[in-house]
Amino acid sequence: MTRALLLSFSPHGKAAQTFKLARALLNEQVPDAHVTERDYGARALPPLTREYANALTTPGGLSGSATALSEQLIVELEACDLLVLCTPVHNFTVPAALKGWIDHVVRIERSFTVNAQFEKVGLLKDRRTFVLVSSGNVRKGHEPDFLTPYMTAILSTVGIRTVGFVYLGAMVRGAETVSRAVEQARRQLHETISSGL
Ligand SMILES: Cc1cc2nc3c(=O)[nH]c(=O)nc-3n(C[C@H](O)[C@H](O)[C@H](O)COP(=O)(O)O)c2cc1C
Repeated sequence: MTRALLLSFSPHGKAAQTFKLARALLNEQVPDAHVTERDYGARALPPLTREYANALTTPGGLSGSATALSEQLIVELEACDLLVLCTPVHNFTVPAALKGWIDHVVRIERSFTVNAQFEKVGLLKDRRTFVLVSSGNVRKGHEPDFLTPYMTAILSTVGIRTVGFVYLGAMVRGAETVSRAVEQARRQLHETISSGL
């Protein structure tokens, strides 16, 4: 049975177009999946504590209550074999809510390590991952895209390399444009999920 983890990083939470689309497609195409849904957008994770920052940057400091939330989020991630991240673009990049989740999940000597060449090496197993990206602007050529290369690099840092991006662009240009973008993304996701990624 597929165990899917469906996360929203939109201020609209589970009402975001990306989240609704992902949920509908999962229900349709992987009906027997066990789906865990989380809203980390409208109900953002707490900011990093001083204890957590110290735990991550002090040799041998990686235990105890300082890392409890981080541990919970990593365990939740480890438990899935299909990961779906639903996110808006905020100021050319990931929203603060998604960056917060990343700062809890990308943890030295837990989800990644550093080798003798000072390279970061992922400690999580790879899993099918989709990043559904909603933006006000059209996707290509009109403004910088820091989200795609950043998400590719940070997911790879923890070992997640099988990543597909699906873009819903021009989402502020009225209902007709929104439904066209959603339909296009639906077709793209449908094909990708059917083909096995
Ligand atoms: C704070 C903020 C910053 C934004 N920055 C961008 C941006 O840089 N580029 C863009 O295309 N859209 C930007 N938008 C528009 C959102 O990406 C767009 O409305 C998106 O569809 C929202 O998705 P959501 O409903 O899932 O949150 C921004 C919106 C907000 C609230």
